[in-house]
Amino acid sequence: MDWKTLYKDKLMTAGEAVKRIKSGDRVVVSHAVGEPRTLISAMVENADQYKGVEIVHMVAMGNSPYCRPEMEKHFRHNSLFVGASTRQAVADGRADVTPVFFSEVPELFRTTLPVDVALVNLSPPDEHGYCSFGVSVDYSKPAAEAAKLVIAQVNANMPRTFGDSFIHISELDCIVEADDPVIELPQGKIGDVQRAIGKNCASLINDGDTLQLGIGAIPDAVMLFLKDKKDLGIHSEMFSDGTVELMEAGVITNKRKNFHPGKSVVTFLMGTKRLYDYVNNNPSVEMYPVDFVNNPYIIAENDNLVAINSCIEVDLTGQVVSTNIGLTQFSGVGGQVDFVRGAQMSRGGRSIMAMPSTTKTKRGTISKIVPLITEGAAVTTSRDEVDYVITEYGIAKLKGKTLRDRARALIEIAHPDFRPDLIEEYEKRFHSKFQDAPHKAYA
Ligand code: COA
Repeated sequence: MDWKTLYKDKLMTAGEAVKRIKSGDRVVVSHAVGEPRTLISAMVENADQYKGVEIVHMVAMGNSPYCRPEMEKHFRHNSLFVGASTRQAVADGRADVTPVFFSEVPELFRTTLPVDVALVNLSPPDEHGYCSFGVSVDYSKPAAEAAKLVIAQVNANMPRTFGDSFIHISELDCIVEADDPVIELPQGKIGDVQRAIGKNCASLINDGDTLQLGIGAIPDAVMLFLKDKKDLGIHSEMFSDGTVELMEAGVITNKRKNFHPGKSVVTFLMGTKRLYDYVNNNPSVEMYPVDFVNNPYIIAENDNLVAINSCIEVDLTGQVVSTNIGLTQFSGVGGQVDFVRGAQMSRGGRSIMAMPSTTKTKRGTISKIVPLITEGAAVTTSRDEVDYVITEYGIAKLKGKTLRDRARALIEIAHPDFRPDLIEEYEKRFHSKFQDAPHKAYA
């Protein structure tokens, strides 16, 4: 049967499609801004028909209506990365968290967490009957390949991206046409602190380096200081609008990449319509599933890979906490450790944890450089693999440093208001005066 006939046969309303979901099913929803909002709304409207449907995904950028308290009997969310719309349900015990490296999610769906239903959001088919996963290839494509039932929202607003990002109409079970705008995320607000951090990070980036940058004010601030660099490349979990500016300005050319030269390689995208228009039908951007892009061995195929990530707190030995505020689950590991390890194995690679030196909490302003990690928190990047830590006060190179010298380096980039307490801790712990010069080899 030709694909156009198949398409017509599978076409139905969202209400009809979600009736195929059964109580107890595990439903995997496309990631981040790729979520199929019409399908999610229809599923939640049909909630009375379900008991104990498990909803699995990573960052939810929509409003996650299945996490509302009244949905508890019908749905249970299993979060692979907690976000704004799912955090309360996790904190209340109405949703669960499964810790997992982003690179390992596809394998989880093929083995330990078998997928009953995949809800995906696709571009319309091309003339051969292939739809693109658009802004979310990551685990969305592997989940669709592993699922017993694939319900696809075919969405004219979903950009058609290249790489290993396609699925044929014959692989879909239900097709629902709905043209929701792809969720947009405005750029982060860059203040003086972020500018200073951005400048410090940019000072470690050389012409020809390949970058992994996330989203938010810090990566955007880094990019402000990259405008004079030459021939940068991208091999990143994701990128956003700031990266497009550097591509259009000819700063990111991918020319000197030794792995996929000429191409920006990513697994998902998140930004505004400007980004989505840029990547649409653009062969300079290639998207692959996350078990390829975030595989540390694949990352390390890129020489001079610079990974920039952020964190919640760092202790004086260099242990990095990125997912928890004490016992409270704030986010997830995502690709942080994948890229820290990949950068470590890359010839000439560097990994950077960039964060403001302080943060405001209900208890007042606190230091993010702390003597001990907060009770209940989980270490995300271990002190054995941390490389650079950067704040607005400077750069601490930790790799290869003794515990004593890394504590000193971290205190030197802490906020001045908190240095006296940290120095007191240093002197107690290392039985020496802070003023004593560090060992020459590490100075
Ligand atoms: N103690 C208490 N609260 C803290 C804190 C600390 N040490 N550090 C941050 N916070 C609070 C902030 O006050 C802020 O609270 P608010 O939302 O009420 O304003 C909140 O945590 C977020 O802090 P912010 O500095 O705005 O964080 P961010 O948006 O830059 O995100 C991480 C920082 C660490 C949460 C985020 O980078 C993350 O989830 N990383 C792990 C995943 C990852 O690295 N993926 C990378 C691949 S793209």
